Amino acid sequence: MTENLTQPELDLTIGGQTGFNPSGDEDSRTAFRNALGQFCTGVTTVTTVAPDGERVGITVNSFNSLSLDPPLILWSIAKTTPSFSCFQPDDPFVVNVLAADQEGLATQFAKSGSETKFKGVTTHAGLQDVPIIDGCVAYLECQVHARYLGGDHDIIVGRVRRIFNLRKAPLLFHAGAFHSLGPA
Ligand SMILES: Cc1cc2nc3c(=O)[nH]c(=O)nc-3n(C[C@H](O)[C@H](O)[C@H](O)COP(=O)(O)O)c2cc1C
Repeated sequence: MTENLTQPELDLTIGGQTGFNPSGDEDSRTAFRNALGQFCTGVTTVTTVAPDGERVGITVNSFNSLSLDPPLILWSIAKTTPSFSCFQPDDPFVVNVLAADQEGLATQFAKSGSETKFKGVTTHAGLQDVPIIDGCVAYLECQVHARYLGGDHDIIVGRVRRIFNLRKAPLLFHAGAFHSLGPA
């Protein structure tokens, strides 16, 4: 199937650019990443508590809605990330939707090192003591409903247990940079 895509008779040029198969060399993987980056997203920090009681937080923009009834959401976690072993079936977690003025938190929670992640961060105790980060746009308190293989990531499906919607201006992510939308 993949080989068919590289056959010359399927060559197509749009706007002066010839389409290509992204599963090739390093350059094509970078081009794939850049093409994905054209999809503008919000930014979340997903929090949970590890089995040893340590607070876990990870910046995530793969978050999306999945189902209204039952209320399900999804996001994906990289296999290489230290938090990969968290988020097992039934584990609680919170999706903290970051506000326009929380770019610093997005960067802080995108760095490995559990001791520094929650430094200076005001939190509230959510369901099963999962930290809820103060000052966000919205919160979805979830429980892991299912976990699926997805290449170099796993897909986490969460069943939503409780929501908060504070309706602030959100933080956005596009082409590798943070942006804001202005007041909601
Ligand atoms: C804007 C942005 C979005 C990100 N989205 C994801 C994501 O969806 N899934 C993921 O596994 N890592 C994502 N990351 C990377 C993680 O935040 C980063 O690897 C973090 O260090 C993971 O935490 P850990 O090292 O404690 O496991 C993203 C980083 C940024 C800056």
